[in-house]
Amino acid sequence: MSSSPVASRCDQSPAWGLLQAHFQSAGRRFDLRQAFAADAGRYAAWTLTAPEVFADLSKNRIDADTMALLLQLARDCGLEGKRDAMLAGEPINLTEGRAVLHSALRAPAGKGFLFSDEVQASLSSMLAFAESVRDTSKSGITDVVHIGIGGSDLGPAMVVRALQAYTQHGLKLHFVSNVDGHDLAPVLRDLKPATTLFVIASKTFTTQETLANALAAKAWFVAAGGSDIARHFVATSSNTAAAGAFGITTTFGFWDWVGGRYSLWSVIGLPIAIAIGAENFRALLAGAHAMDQHFARTPLERNLPVQLGLLDIWYRNFHGFSSRSVAPYHQGLGRLPAYLQQLEMESNGKGVDLEGQTLPYATSPVVWGEAGTNGQHAYFQMLHQGTDVIPVEFIAVKTPNHGEHVQGEMKALLLDQHRKLLANCLAQSQALMQGKSFEEALQESAPTASKELDAATVARHRSFPGNRPSTTLVLDRLTPSSLGALIALYEQRVFVSGALWGINSFDQWGVELGKALCGQLLPRLSSGDTTGLDGSTAGLLKHLLA
Ligand code: F6P
Repeated sequence: MSSSPVASRCDQSPAWGLLQAHFQSAGRRFDLRQAFAADAGRYAAWTLTAPEVFADLSKNRIDADTMALLLQLARDCGLEGKRDAMLAGEPINLTEGRAVLHSALRAPAGKGFLFSDEVQASLSSMLAFAESVRDTSKSGITDVVHIGIGGSDLGPAMVVRALQAYTQHGLKLHFVSNVDGHDLAPVLRDLKPATTLFVIASKTFTTQETLANALAAKAWFVAAGGSDIARHFVATSSNTAAAGAFGITTTFGFWDWVGGRYSLWSVIGLPIAIAIGAENFRALLAGAHAMDQHFARTPLERNLPVQLGLLDIWYRNFHGFSSRSVAPYHQGLGRLPAYLQQLEMESNGKGVDLEGQTLPYATSPVVWGEAGTNGQHAYFQMLHQGTDVIPVEFIAVKTPNHGEHVQGEMKALLLDQHRKLLANCLAQSQALMQGKSFEEALQESAPTASKELDAATVARHRSFPGNRPSTTLVLDRLTPSSLGALIALYEQRVFVSGALWGINSFDQWGVELGKALCGQLLPRLSSGDTTGLDGSTAGLLKHLLA
């Protein structure tokens, strides 16, 4: 344990300078191939088990010395104290004066967790409503249109897609988020008011996109002969008054200590509960809670969110890697990269510390990705041979669940496809690490090479630098519980890097300026008035109106 006072920022920790020296002396030259050749126990040493998630960190540019210093950094920065403060409900979101208690939403009943009574009451009423909708013979509902954006969309949309295998036949979920009417219009084309339920999801109930879509949906409902708006429109919001003013009589409320991007565990998860049912929703919460417990109790050395968060600091602040790619090898996790973009970039895309001082180091990387294997045929070229090193996070699922309708020969074929999927996942992390030397490339025949290029030139095009880092996370199956654990792992990992950077991971002032300017520009799109605008904005506005 360090005896020095807690550093509010990582660069104020004694370990920061030690890490800089370590990077210069060893870290920047670290070679994964040599590390594996030198240590037969590397895989065993760098694999970790957390609830529902197995992690292989061995293909990262780290060794015991690096991790020891990163752990010292974490301790110097009082990571455990900061974690405990969050979990204890201290108002760590300073700029908004709020606690950050999404973990309380997934805690089991009756265990003395904060706000347990309120949370359980809210959960029970939301789940009871979800079950009543799922009872389609009584509810008459065949389609649920969920209208929300950002944290009020990405989590529910991602989870419902991921847990498709758990959804009910005859009840379709649709997600509309964009203010662009091309999102809403096609969804409504084939729906009927009598069999449609709209869920208007907005924590603030002031979000332009959501209110615009809700208004248009209401207009469609009435024009298409719908009656009983009170039965066909419900809201999930912490602003029940605004939802009421909109004409919604049933609102499932929640609290300001639930951040938008951390809200899928709250009533914002209503479409998830409608899609997968109460029991599965509770399993999603239980998986996340198990990960919370791991985060709260496991020593930092074996604590997966902590290890991943420290790796993020190592790559971002010492190696200078500016992005991280996420490659889930499961089609159901196709929206996970988009979800993680908000989670990580809205949380940690900050430029000042808690005291408002400009940071002298980088924070959130760009997070991006696509489900494998599709990404391989799009941007993996750059990951393998491009000039930037981009750590990749592979997510593999051991056992598939293609659905009960998949039987006989098709079942065997899809199982074979699953083996192909896993082989691709392993091959990509192997290729990134291994690379291909100039000599190896030279030995290969190059049938497509132009006669004008000599063999050495062609070999240079065909060689790979290798030593490109990756992490592989493995789930046994994609279930509500394992998905809950995976999402909570990411949430807590984002907390770890944010805590060390000394930033407020729980506000998002960076989205406000654009909103305000949009409000000022909107009337000009009707009037055409460009007075006082900069040249580009004025020119574009005229061009759009011409
Ligand atoms: O984009 C900013 C933001 O405030 C997100 O943080 C939030 O998830 C989203 O807008 C939607 O907000 P609301 O749920 O209040 O409509």
